[in-house]
Order: sequence, then structure tokens, then C-alpha cells
Amino acid sequence: MTLAITGRFEESAMERKYKKLNILEEDRKMAGERSQESSELQMKWPKHHKRPRSPQTFRGGSKRRKRCRAQARRPAPLKISSYEVHKVLGRGSFGKVMLATLTSRKQLVALKVLEKRPEIMKEHRALKIAGGSPFLCHAYAAFQSKLQAFFVLEYASGGSLSTVMENGPFPTSTVMFYAAEMVCGLQFLHSRGIVHRDIKLENILLDQNGHIKICDFGLVAHNIFGNRTTRGRIGTYGYMAPEVMLMKEYNAAADWWSLGVVIYRMAIGRSPFYNGRVRTMVQESTVSDEPQYPEWISPELQDLLEKLLKKNPQHRLGTNGNIREHPFFASINWVELESLKVKPPLQPRMPSTDSSGSSLEIEKDNIGCNDINILSGFSFINPNWQE
Ligand code: ADE
Repeated sequence: MTLAITGRFEESAMERKYKKLNILEEDRKMAGERSQESSELQMKWPKHHKRPRSPQTFRGGSKRRKRCRAQARRPAPLKISSYEVHKVLGRGSFGKVMLATLTSRKQLVALKVLEKRPEIMKEHRALKIAGGSPFLCHAYAAFQSKLQAFFVLEYASGGSLSTVMENGPFPTSTVMFYAAEMVCGLQFLHSRGIVHRDIKLENILLDQNGHIKICDFGLVAHNIFGNRTTRGRIGTYGYMAPEVMLMKEYNAAADWWSLGVVIYRMAIGRSPFYNGRVRTMVQESTVSDEPQYPEWISPELQDLLEKLLKKNPQHRLGTNGNIREHPFFASINWVELESLKVKPPLQPRMPSTDSSGSSLEIEKDNIGCNDINILSGFSFINPNWQE
């Protein structure tokens, strides 16, 4: 709820400044980041938004005054009450992603709500890096309440490839376009030492113009440079590389395998391996079976899939050889593609904000001035977020 600033002290020049910056009474009361986080946030705050000083007239002791001053600086997009939530876009073990409007800017965003756990800092770090590629989902901001953490993400209104594919497999030219944009997004991540570890149709979104946006960096591994590897059976069965399933050490080649599964499914309309409910059978099939290729797919596409779905990661295209030079991509102009000049094959419909009717409750837990459960360095606003 928005409360006007009234009566408690005479309106001063400072107060007028507060009002202008849309800093509300509610913010002053709200529990929040300690001054440490607040100052970090301010460092990233665009220059033209000068840091307001707090009025001197708060009641209470000096400690409380300091804390509340820090909270008062929290800009409007960094609190849940600034958003109107419309519907759930997706759920997972992590929490959920909601379609929401930042009311002050009437802008649709995807609001990812997570339990506060130290591991979410990996996603936080990946999201900041992702801002450098047009083929990765960008974050506008991050903030936290007492129990929850929030990422404010760009809304990819075209839906995921899994929903777009409901009408059946794609023509080869469409497969080529999406695969090529995914190659750009993956190569960007890998060049920054990030392995995504959950590449699947559901995590490949389309933006409003039909370009690819790889999303969900919740399972990433960082610092995988050179010969470095990581461990852990992490990802989604059916897309997971054999070395990941077998709990071996692995690197970015695991993402190239998953891309192979995505391309196979886009082109052929089914999974390359057994993909039922029995996990041991999915593993058995992934590790031992060779995929079947219908005769109607092009030899170039079959060759690409065979090279991406190599059981041995050291022989797998992506980390072994230059995938951009593969004959399947012969007609791609990579420079034009990377500058978003190639017209996407599908134009998504206009987004709808119709509420799904499911529970859209977000815990109203952000009141109270004594929060000890703070994720330090979490909150930020992307200075490029358009006003
Ligand atoms: N589902 C998960 N993340 C999303 C996003 N950024 N846009 C649209 N749908 C999503």
C-alpha cells in the first residue's frame, strides 16, 4: 500500500526531494538490507539519481535512525509492493516465475521468486554476466525481503520452445535459426566460464520479436575455464549428458550434448533416447543407445546431431571443433545473426496479462526492522533499465 508522507515533520526541501524520488513511508518502515548492502546498491545507481539524505526527525534511537535511513534509500523497483502480479509463468524446485507489472512504469516483467539460500548468488552472478548477450535472459534488478529473494527479469513474451512446439516439429530452416542463436548464447556463457547445466526446450524462450532467450541460470557452474571441470548430477533427465549422469567430472561439453537433444526434439519431434518415468532406463538409454534418424532429415542435420550427441565429451562438437563452421549452418551469416538482423521464423502473439486464477500470493514478509537473514550484495538495479 502506498502512503503519503504527512504531518510528522514539516515539509522541507529534503522531503520534497524524497517525494520526487518516490520514496514512500512504507519503505521507511520496511525491514531491509543493512547499510552495507544499501551502499553497494547506491554505487550502481545511475548518476542522475542523487542519493537523498534522510530527514533528521525520525523518532527512536540513533541506531534505528541509521537503519531506517538506509532503508529509505531503497528505490521503488526494489520492493514487492511496487509490482502487480498477474499470473504464474513457471514453477520449479527453485520457486516460481510470475508475470508482473512494475506499476510506476507500466512495464511487464518476469518476477522470479526464490527461497533465500546462499546458492542463489550463483544465479545472481550469472544474470549480471548474461546482460552482455542478446540471446540470454537479462535481469533488470534484484531485491529481497525477509524470507524471499526476487529477480526482476525481462519478460520473454513469446513463451518457451516447448510450448511453441506443441504444433509439432519445426521445418529445418526454423531449427537452423533457433539452433544458431542458441550457439551464440552458449558460446557467450562458456567464454565467461559458465556452464548452464539445464539446457532444455522449457528454458529456451522467445522474446517479443521471436529471438531466442536462454533463461534460468539457477543451476550454473562458474569458473569452468581451460581444463577445469565440475561435478554433480545436475540438470534434467532426458537432456543430461552421459558423463553428468555417471557422476564423472565434466565441462561445457555437457551443454553441447543438451543442445543436441534440443535440436533433435525441435527437428524430429521426439526425444533421441528413452525418456519415460523410470530414471534408470533413461540413464541406461542415454549412456548406451544410439539415436535413430528418420530418412527425411537432411544429411547435414543428421551429421550435426551425431557430432553433438557423441558419448565421449572429448569428441563432442562445440568443445571439439568450431560448430559455426558445420555444414548445417552454411547459410547462416553469423555477424548479421549476432546483431539480431536475421528475421526470426515465427512472430509471437502479443502478450496477455490475463490472470490464471491460481494463487498469486507472495508472502508479505517484508515488514520489520530486525532482519538478520540478509543476503549481502544481492540487491541491484541494472543502470540500463529504461525509465
Ligand atoms: N519463464 C521463466 N522466465 C521467464 C521470462 N523471463 N519470461 C517469460 N517467461 C519466463
